[in-house]
Amino acid sequence: MRCPSCLAETPGHPRFCPSCGTHLAAPAPVEVRKIVTVVFCDLAESTALSERLDPESLRAVLIRYFALMRDQLAWHGGTVEKFIGDAVMAVFGVPELHEDDALRAARAALDMRAALERLNDDLDHDLGIRLRVRIGVNTGEVVTSGLTRGEQALVAGETVNAAARLQQLAQPGEILLGPETWRLVGPSAVGTAAGPLTLRGKRHPVTAWRLVSMRSDDPAAIRRFDIPFVDRQEPLRELDRTLDGIIRHRHCRIVTLHGEAGVGKTRLARLWAERAGQRGVLVGSGRCRPYGAGGTLLGVADAVRELVTVGTPDPRALAVLRDGLLKDGTPNPSHQETSWALRSVLEGLGRSTYVLIVLDDVQWAGGPVFDTLGHLAEELSEAAVMVLCVTRSDLFDRMPGWQVASRLALPRLGPADSRLLASGLAEVTPHDGALLDRIADRSEGNPLYLEQLVAMLGDGGEPHGLPLTVHALIAARVDRIGPEAREVLECAAVVGREFTAGELRAVSGTGEPGAPLGELRRKSFIEHRTETTFRFTSGLIQEVVYGGMAKRRRAELHERFAGWLAAGDGGDEAVGTHLEQAYRHRADLGPPGEHTARLRDGAAARLSEAGTLALRRSDLSRAENLLSRGAALLGAAHPGWPRISGRVAETQITLGDVERGRLLLTEVLERATGDADAVVAAHASLYLSHFDPADSSEVARRAIPVFEAAADDLGLARAWTMVAQEAQGRGRFAETRQMLQRALEYATRSGAELERATILGNLAASLWLGPEPAPVAISRCRDLLAAHGRDRGLARAVVGCPLAVLLATRGGFDEARATLAAAGRALADLRHAYADAFMPIFSAAVESLAGRWDLAEDLLRQACARAGALGDTQLLVTASRDLAGTLLRRGDLAGAELWAGTALEGSPRDAPMNTAELHAIRAEVLAARGAVESCRELMDLAVHEAGGTDSPVCRATVLLGNARGLATLGAHRESQAAARGAMAEFAAKGHLVGRGWTLALAGRR
Ligand SMILES: Nc1ncnc2c1ncn2[C@@H]1O[C@H](COP(=O)(O)OP(=O)(O)OP(=O)(O)O)[C@@H](O)[C@H]1O
Ligand SMILES: [Mg+2]
Repeated sequence: MRCPSCLAETPGHPRFCPSCGTHLAAPAPVEVRKIVTVVFCDLAESTALSERLDPESLRAVLIRYFALMRDQLAWHGGTVEKFIGDAVMAVFGVPELHEDDALRAARAALDMRAALERLNDDLDHDLGIRLRVRIGVNTGEVVTSGLTRGEQALVAGETVNAAARLQQLAQPGEILLGPETWRLVGPSAVGTAAGPLTLRGKRHPVTAWRLVSMRSDDPAAIRRFDIPFVDRQEPLRELDRTLDGIIRHRHCRIVTLHGEAGVGKTRLARLWAERAGQRGVLVGSGRCRPYGAGGTLLGVADAVRELVTVGTPDPRALAVLRDGLLKDGTPNPSHQETSWALRSVLEGLGRSTYVLIVLDDVQWAGGPVFDTLGHLAEELSEAAVMVLCVTRSDLFDRMPGWQVASRLALPRLGPADSRLLASGLAEVTPHDGALLDRIADRSEGNPLYLEQLVAMLGDGGEPHGLPLTVHALIAARVDRIGPEAREVLECAAVVGREFTAGELRAVSGTGEPGAPLGELRRKSFIEHRTETTFRFTSGLIQEVVYGGMAKRRRAELHERFAGWLAAGDGGDEAVGTHLEQAYRHRADLGPPGEHTARLRDGAAARLSEAGTLALRRSDLSRAENLLSRGAALLGAAHPGWPRISGRVAETQITLGDVERGRLLLTEVLERATGDADAVVAAHASLYLSHFDPADSSEVARRAIPVFEAAADDLGLARAWTMVAQEAQGRGRFAETRQMLQRALEYATRSGAELERATILGNLAASLWLGPEPAPVAISRCRDLLAAHGRDRGLARAVVGCPLAVLLATRGGFDEARATLAAAGRALADLRHAYADAFMPIFSAAVESLAGRWDLAEDLLRQACARAGALGDTQLLVTASRDLAGTLLRRGDLAGAELWAGTALEGSPRDAPMNTAELHAIRAEVLAARGAVESCRELMDLAVHEAGGTDSPVCRATVLLGNARGLATLGAHRESQAAARGAMAEFAAKGHLVGRGWTLALAGRR
């Protein structure tokens, strides 16, 4: 801490400054959020009791009752928070969390009930009364200062109320556990369901559980040792090597198998010990407990008990052990004698056979265990004895100097093994592969975390929160670190999974975080990522640390960090994200004041900037995420909402979430009523007109002056594109190109990648359909690619598609297909929703030029389905027009008629590019049916319409169709004239395949 007088930095929190002697005030207790277990216990029928007993006797009874209850609670590690009337309230997890707080609370409740029965025997005898209690136990988040005395000690939250409520609902003599407590103790508890009960703080009625008794807490019973074992070859081999050495040299060695909680130490050690047993090794196993009845050597005693049943141990030694160690786990009569007796027994065994002692959970062992093992290692000779101590790595923080044992670390599972384990678990709880992979990644190779995360799926949905068991394990570890290191860890959790010392300084607003970083590294909370960057060893640790901070503190730190980022070159996304967090936490704490509103607006503005930039760069998913977060922060009533929501909608539509985007745009249009919103409204109308192309060019023309007045280049790019598209529909490609060039300038200036790509796509399409001969058009497309396609996948794809068709018109089918495939890949990378609709249209065009009409039909049917699903009328019209033409060529007259009808229905007014060809298709169908008159009418109409375009491809297609229709009617001379016309148009375009078609028709006659 820093002295307020001389400003000297001093580690820790001394009462006086070591530099100037100033009295330093104790730091204010820091509020934290914790998941604790609360126990409420109240006397049942206490009114009747007070009526029956004299107040003096009653007081004496109550004093004994309270003392008894408090003793049970304290013995299991609970903190008695207060006495209210006849009720006792205790908390497990304050001041210090234990990973097994819920289990402790449940055991305490059972012991309270049992102890009361013993008291009742006395009371019955002395006063003729029996006491009965109702007990409620509930687990959940509370806020606490970590102190156990004074006003600051208050533990508050719905969790406490729910525990009290459970206690009220319990029958006399009953213990009711809340659902979370039950989940935590579940596998080791016996109980029956009670409920559903309505508890405050819970939206839905919940099932509580009547606790009857506790079962064994052996890991094999409470964890999933039944799931197939994922091989751990390396550590198994290492253990084998060690045991072989011991057998060969007949000596005693202690090995610690260590790793983090849940990494699989117990499972591995048991499996290996079982295999050793099968090889003839004599195995004894025991386990240390975090607390509980029995002597400190209980774990050792369990292991030895299994061994002394074999062979003929020295009777004197056995008698010593039977009177102390084996009886109650104590070193009775003395430590020396117990050690001697143990050595003697093991020496006896170890001479004739090989002995393996597996001692699990050594992190809970007390000093005497280490002394006993130390003596064994030093004094046992010529006996093949291996002691495998299984422990969490934390042990070495407590016992850095425990050198007698060699160490073998058990690392986390690799990603592939995690996924294998996830699929093993999923056989029990079936779920889709991608979800399981995500969960496997989240578990970061810890099998217990993985198992618990998968189990959470059983409760429905993907677990975003942490399973309580995993939370309890990590939180208890975090709770054990000192206040300074904890503070550093909290600052780090605010920065993110990775952080630098500079960032920590910025968040904390104080000096160097030096020393605690070393401690945190040693304790494996963090690790070096690069020389200057650190990271949490697990994202789950970061989550737990973050969740353990009071929201007020989180808000302060996020805001301070955002300020630091903004002063540097932090970038809008990072600044916006931290402001957003600061705002959310503050808003959770109460109605937003001015400061909170400022945070909100700042966050929304930054996120909106970042989202708009992402949108311009075609990074759609990211754009949607950022923009919707900005919009959600503001809320629909905020004047800034329409602008940002308009962009959200556009992104959604581009991503294929059409209906949602369309609805949102309609709402934007309704709300964009302010003067400043004219541009927003113009954008919304423009976008909406995609769905109603009939008057899109009208809407675009109206929007142009609005955009011009606001110098909105993006708007102008869009509006001009739309006007150009309308001209394209009329088949006026030369005119179109001028407009598109103009639009391209605006789009380039505004840096809008998506718009630029659309324009480039339209330019390429107009080169394909317009008057330029194919070789010229091909080289212009290549110019476009050279000028705009570098580093731009989308631009390459949309130019590539028409280019492929142009190549196919010249007979270059392979090159055309390769060009399309490359375009498809680029679009898939970009997650472009429309790709599924327009790629098959181009592929079909190429395949029909290659004569594969069957393939073309399949592709076009796909395109129609997809365009229909997207609600994109323009694409649907194009796809169904081409499908009609294809079906006609395949002799499916009814199909051709049907799809031509669909296309005509959707075609905007005055769009001869579509209608000319469609009329020609219909005419051909009618010719085949012999409807001479109507057929000729349509042929004329088609020629007229095509004549109004400057597209040789359109004119040639119509003329060739007519030539075929006329031939069907037997009007050969007219047919030949039409064919000549088609030939001239195809020649003008350099359309070699079309020329071939025309020649083939002539050949048929
Ligand atoms: N190699 C493995 N293959 C399949 N499951 C495993 C494997 N290792 C561990 N598990 C599963 O992970 C869970 C945790 O394993 P285990 O109890 O052995 O961990 P631990 O390291 O002993 O934890 P703690 O430190 O809490 O004692 C168990 O359900 C176990 O079955
Ligand atoms: Mg274990």
